[in-house]
Amino acid sequence: MTTDLNPPRILGLCASLRAGRWADGSAELVEQIRSIGSDDTLRAFLKEQSLAHFENFVNAGRSDGLPFDEIYANLKKEVGKRGLSNSEVALSAGLWAAHDLGCEIDWVSLVEHFPPSGGPVKLDELRARIEQADAIMLATPVYFGDRGSLASSLIELFREDPAFADAIREKVAVGVAVGAKRNGGQETTLIYQIVDLLNAGMMCVGNDSETTSQYGGTVLAGDVGTAWKDDYGLNTSMGAGRRIARVAWQMRKGAGTTVDGKLRVGFWILQDRDGYCADQVRKLAELSGNTIEAHVFDGSDADITRCIACDICPTEVGIDAEYRCIIKKKSDYFKNNHERLVGLDAIVPVGIAPRDRAGVRSKYQQFMERTRYLRRGDYLFTDLLTAPIVFEEVGANDALSIRMLTSTLRHHTVMSRPMMGYLWNGRLINRDELVEGWQAFLERARRLAAGRLIAAAEHAASVQYNPVGYVLSAAKDKEEETLRKRKAMAADRAERASREAEVRLTSSVVEP
Ligand SMILES: Cc1cc2nc3c(=O)[nH]c(=O)nc-3n(C[C@H](O)[C@H](O)[C@H](O)COP(=O)(O)O)c2cc1C
Repeated sequence: MTTDLNPPRILGLCASLRAGRWADGSAELVEQIRSIGSDDTLRAFLKEQSLAHFENFVNAGRSDGLPFDEIYANLKKEVGKRGLSNSEVALSAGLWAAHDLGCEIDWVSLVEHFPPSGGPVKLDELRARIEQADAIMLATPVYFGDRGSLASSLIELFREDPAFADAIREKVAVGVAVGAKRNGGQETTLIYQIVDLLNAGMMCVGNDSETTSQYGGTVLAGDVGTAWKDDYGLNTSMGAGRRIARVAWQMRKGAGTTVDGKLRVGFWILQDRDGYCADQVRKLAELSGNTIEAHVFDGSDADITRCIACDICPTEVGIDAEYRCIIKKKSDYFKNNHERLVGLDAIVPVGIAPRDRAGVRSKYQQFMERTRYLRRGDYLFTDLLTAPIVFEEVGANDALSIRMLTSTLRHHTVMSRPMMGYLWNGRLINRDELVEGWQAFLERARRLAAGRLIAAAEHAASVQYNPVGYVLSAAKDKEEETLRKRKAMAADRAERASREAEVRLTSSVVEP
């Protein structure tokens, strides 16, 4: 398998209206970020640039008590080579982390293309920069609990032009949001962004396991020149940078390779009525003939004991094949189906959302909660492509597809566009569209699965789950024994990946 690929290119897109960098200043910033060798140097640089940006404001008239519009106009007369706004600080941290993992990085300030007043400018240039990238990191201030208008305009650009929408299909996206308040809407911003970018056709990731910010980077900063102070926020941005870098590498590695034989797709049917979803899943699986191996988990009416939120989860460190949840009831669904959850290539949660809920069997929430031991057991589903299939009755306005996205993302999956089947008077009215979405999903899943196996085999290492927020009790902290088991688990995973990479992959084309 070829490994000496060109590195993936991560494009940082900054949606700050108070940008300190634009034009040549963006290119200069990229060089500055690339030259930073350590976390400490990065933080010092971000502090220096934050303070320089504050100074820009002072020099532009704040010290003379000028009103903000005049200060703003004066700032725009500058050349954009000094200082960083809060969103720019967050984005710089994320890009630095991606660069640290061997990615190329690039930077575009969106205010150059969507000025405060007047129409958009130089959109061809913007499109070209995006097309050259493998992945984007979109950093935005939080405005009214949502992304700012610059990020919004960008997303509209993705969605309004079919040719451009096609060009961004295989790209991965991650977000970073900066708000003035703790819980000011950083998470809602990231979630809306994820939903919209998925619908625009991109793939999306959340964060890695080093912090508790699940959906991307979340920074707390309000006044100009303050983002550098939020150490934890910068960590979340760096986590987002590492996550996107890791998946961008996998997409690169997977581009020239095919997974031979059947793709193992896990259908999680979690909310159904009279077997409707089960029937539709069977039809989709039949349609894909022998290209997939369908692993159907029909949990909608199963005996799924509720997660009792135990303090030691999983019950012990061990290899993936071992069931390690505290619930031992004989008829429990997870106890009986654990082994089938190991070794999937893609996950598709499935549900129905009718207006009239009579007869609906839902174990969605129970099922998701019970997957906690798989997440905490070193992210069993890490890097699997995931997209929900939801059969939604027109007018139901149900959030099921979004809930499915945000909860599976916590397993470090890679999200793809939800596949929506619309029901009207009991009839599926967009079957062709659903099938098209399904086929596109499989194509992507194959590429990502190939990349994941190559990367896993190459590095022969696995993600370590850091139980942030959970105090390790003395009873479970049997250090050495735990370490030994953890190593055995990692070795088991790596061996499985290497074996699979050997037997399941064929190089099909040269480097992309
Ligand atoms: C119109 C507007 C709405 C805002 N809404 C929120 C909000 O909902 N939550 C929040 O935490 N901060 C909010 N803020 C504060 C900004 O997110 C914050 O100042 C941020 O640091 C700006 O980033 P920048 O310096 O990169 O432009 C808002 C600011 C403006 C101007």
